[in-house]
Amino acid sequence: MLERYGHGGDLVTASDLFGITADQFVDFSSNMNPFGPPAAVFAVMESRWRELDRYPDPAVRGLRSKLAQRHGINVDNVLCGNGAAELIDLAIRALRPNGGVGLAVPCFGEYADAAEKYGGHIVRVPMLEDDSFRLSVERVMEAALGDNRPEIWMIGSPNNPTGMTVDRELILKLLDTEAFVVIDEAFLDFVPNEEAISLVQEAAKRPNLLVIRSMTKFYAIPGIRLGYAVGSADTIAKMRGLQTPWSVNSLAQWIGEAVLDDVEYEQRTRRWLTEERQWLSADLGKLGCKVFDSVTNYLLVKLPDECAIDAAQLQQLMGQRGVLIRDASHFAGLDGRFIRLAVKLREQNERLIEALSACLQVRRL
Ligand SMILES: Cc1ncc(COP(=O)(O)O)c(C=O)c1O
Repeated sequence: MLERYGHGGDLVTASDLFGITADQFVDFSSNMNPFGPPAAVFAVMESRWRELDRYPDPAVRGLRSKLAQRHGINVDNVLCGNGAAELIDLAIRALRPNGGVGLAVPCFGEYADAAEKYGGHIVRVPMLEDDSFRLSVERVMEAALGDNRPEIWMIGSPNNPTGMTVDRELILKLLDTEAFVVIDEAFLDFVPNEEAISLVQEAAKRPNLLVIRSMTKFYAIPGIRLGYAVGSADTIAKMRGLQTPWSVNSLAQWIGEAVLDDVEYEQRTRRWLTEERQWLSADLGKLGCKVFDSVTNYLLVKLPDECAIDAAQLQQLMGQRGVLIRDASHFAGLDGRFIRLAVKLREQNERLIEALSACLQVRRL
């Protein structure tokens, strides 16, 4: 299976499985901006490589201050990390849950992995297909106020793999229970009115809220590894105390600063996504798939009822054609009828539809 190491976008495993070189795949299994890295990334690599003989700034001052300015918060409220993945891990280590960690499932697998690695137990609140995988206030509050109430909640907004943001009012209600809430906004940059939705400014003010953001998806730099967390100065200091020194390397720091200036790239990305998500959803619908609403750059898709193969078999057939898709049955709460697809550029999306159309006609493997 493609998710051998727990995630999509694993082109080394894909090459092993399908005997095709990495650059021949079109990858819908990880959710990157299909425009590729902004021009500023190449400019930084060309102009600054001579400085790689120096240590990175251990306090990531330039990038933190730029992020603080962008969000209108204090620099002490920002911690940069080696991808959002490092910050999820650091958050759990800093918060040391003795009680449970509440998750709205299906969700990103690293929340449970990080919690269990450090001895937390998971309290799962299901999001149901009948509710279009929206988080129900009643169900969350029942868990949040029950006997087995979680000490920490980790919630994606937009959630992976379901693609919807979480109601701000719901988070504020959870914060009132005095649980600690971690909101993962890794994909929020793709949402046009993200500033109105983000809880970043709230997180800088509240002792029990932390927001985690990724820069790898929107700027298509997963190989660079870059994310940041926003929280109270106290939470940020605790996390920083546990972080490996120089965890954010020099290239990541320079690139992070440079891409934040590229307003044209931001606008182009959001314009493309609004149009292309609609086109792809409609074409998937024509194949008999059920497509769940998404505000971001991936779609949760249910295979047609009459389809004779499951997500794992479909992934295999598509992979042989050089098209990688995510088998969503690996997410707790989903089964072999579900796949997750990134939204890409029109030509790539057309290749996806063509391959899907051929594979969905297969009776049984
Ligand atoms: C919801 C979510 N959060 C965080 C991450 C980690 O992102 P990063 O590449 O910044 O470590 C991912 C990666 O797929 C993700 O899907």
